[in-house]
Amino acid sequence: ISIRFINADGSEQVIQAEPGQSLMKAAVDANVHGIEADCGGSLTCATCHVMIGAPWAAMLTAPVPDEVDMLDFASSPVVPESRLCCQIRLTPSMDGMEVRLPASQH
Ligand code: FES
Repeated sequence: ISIRFINADGSEQVIQAEPGQSLMKAAVDANVHGIEADCGGSLTCATCHVMIGAPWAAMLTAPVPDEVDMLDFASSPVVPESRLCCQIRLTPSMDGMEVRLPASQH
């Protein structure tokens, strides 16, 4: 499936990813700048902050309480679309999903 990452400056990067992977892993494997993922997906760093809006947000499972708590530590402003992408499991229906990146992860 393809995923479109949109940087804060409006530039874009489209990557290919496998369903079943986390969105964070797919981004790191494809060298997406703007995803740091310092903790490797254990929900302790908040440097994998992304924003996913409609219609894609409806395909995501709701964040667990620990994800909501950890978002408080994100360095860029958190908005209703904010998620930690290590907690997003890719599915075939997410093909073409647009993911916005914050200005900074640190
Ligand atoms: Fe650290 Fe997602 S990679 S919280």
